[in-house]
Amino acid sequence: MTLDEQARDVLRKNDKGGYTLPTHGLYPYQWNWDSAFAAWGFTTFDPDRGWTELETLMSGQWEDGMLPHILFHRVDPGYFPGPDVWQGRGPIPSSGISQPPVAATFMAKMLAMDPSGEPRARAIWPKLNAWHRWFMDWRLDRGAVCVTHPWEAGRDNAPDWDGAMKAINADDVGDYTRRDTSHVDPAMRPTKYDYDRYLKLVQLGVSVNWDQSKLRDINPFRVADPTMTFTLLRAQRDMAAMGRRFGEGVSEIEGWIEILEAGAETLWNPEIAGYDSRDVHAGTFNGVLSNASALCWYAGLNDDRALPAIAGMLNATRYGLASYDPEGEEFEPLRYWRGPTWPIMSYLVGSGMEEQGVTDLGTRIRDDTARLMELNGFAEYYSPLDGTPAGGETFTWTAAVWLGWAGDNRENQLGDAGCRQSN
Ligand code: GLC
Repeated sequence: MTLDEQARDVLRKNDKGGYTLPTHGLYPYQWNWDSAFAAWGFTTFDPDRGWTELETLMSGQWEDGMLPHILFHRVDPGYFPGPDVWQGRGPIPSSGISQPPVAATFMAKMLAMDPSGEPRARAIWPKLNAWHRWFMDWRLDRGAVCVTHPWEAGRDNAPDWDGAMKAINADDVGDYTRRDTSHVDPAMRPTKYDYDRYLKLVQLGVSVNWDQSKLRDINPFRVADPTMTFTLLRAQRDMAAMGRRFGEGVSEIEGWIEILEAGAETLWNPEIAGYDSRDVHAGTFNGVLSNASALCWYAGLNDDRALPAIAGMLNATRYGLASYDPEGEEFEPLRYWRGPTWPIMSYLVGSGMEEQGVTDLGTRIRDDTARLMELNGFAEYYSPLDGTPAGGETFTWTAAVWLGWAGDNRENQLGDAGCRQSN
């Protein structure tokens, strides 16, 4: 089978009929941003199925506009914490937090690939707009978008959260049994210390029935995050463009874009010469250079200030953009968001660079990403040092990145010396 065929096979095998699992076993539900990648991946060979994926995702939207990070369509005992722990209050059992809003940007891409999907895109647009408004209403700090749980950023155990996690007292979290460590090596997963705090934050949300105004008062964890800020800024730009085409009023969205641009600037930390996360309660930067720091180009900000540090991260490893600065003290090449390279982030960063004309680095990231998949299949993530595949296997969004981007013109290049020289 060619890699194109293998990638389609991954999507089909993870397809549960209307929604796609990230991978069997480890993640047995529909995840928000994974699903947006899946929709785009399907659109490369089955656009109808791509649109259905987005429609199913939107069917879990809460009345207040929030779009949950997990939809529990069918209960699966292999995953913890499940719907009984989260007690979401939407139309479908769900978690109570959201995830990076990449769906609008993928919808714009899908529309370009399949213009016949326009009626479906028009029906989804107002729902996405309501979701984005929810972020603007509840999650801004000086114009930057905050997360209220590490899982909300999609970068679950990134070093960004270490400081804010210390402020959480999880002594009374109670007993529970993790499931993730029975699917993959615990050394590649977050620690128990982290997990206690993840659960404590869920319990706090449940205690106020996920009422955002109450939660804002009691939640010790509020971090302004480059992942959220840059993905929402990009999403708003795409929403404005689609809205104009659909005859929708977009002046409110234009205002939001200005707010988010100003917010992005509050994440610039001169001390690390990069975009950083900010602990809102402590009023301090976290001092973390990550792959999210490199999302400025994706957000439409062609910022030369950010180039040296990101180029430095790339030069420090052999494959792709590490999730955390390889020179940083906390770097661990195989532990989830504390070092490994993730194709989905590489896509967002690399394609953003290509769009903004930073083509040398963008192409480098694209080639590295393709090379990892050629060598080691569609894993969840990989060591940026030697390409070891890690986490879950046959991953939906990794396969989607091959189909939509990394694999372009690659089939005939198998066997070339595609990986870059370490320098
Ligand atoms: C992990 C990742 C998150 C992803 C989910 C499903 O929690 O950190 O970003 O959405 O797995 O793949």
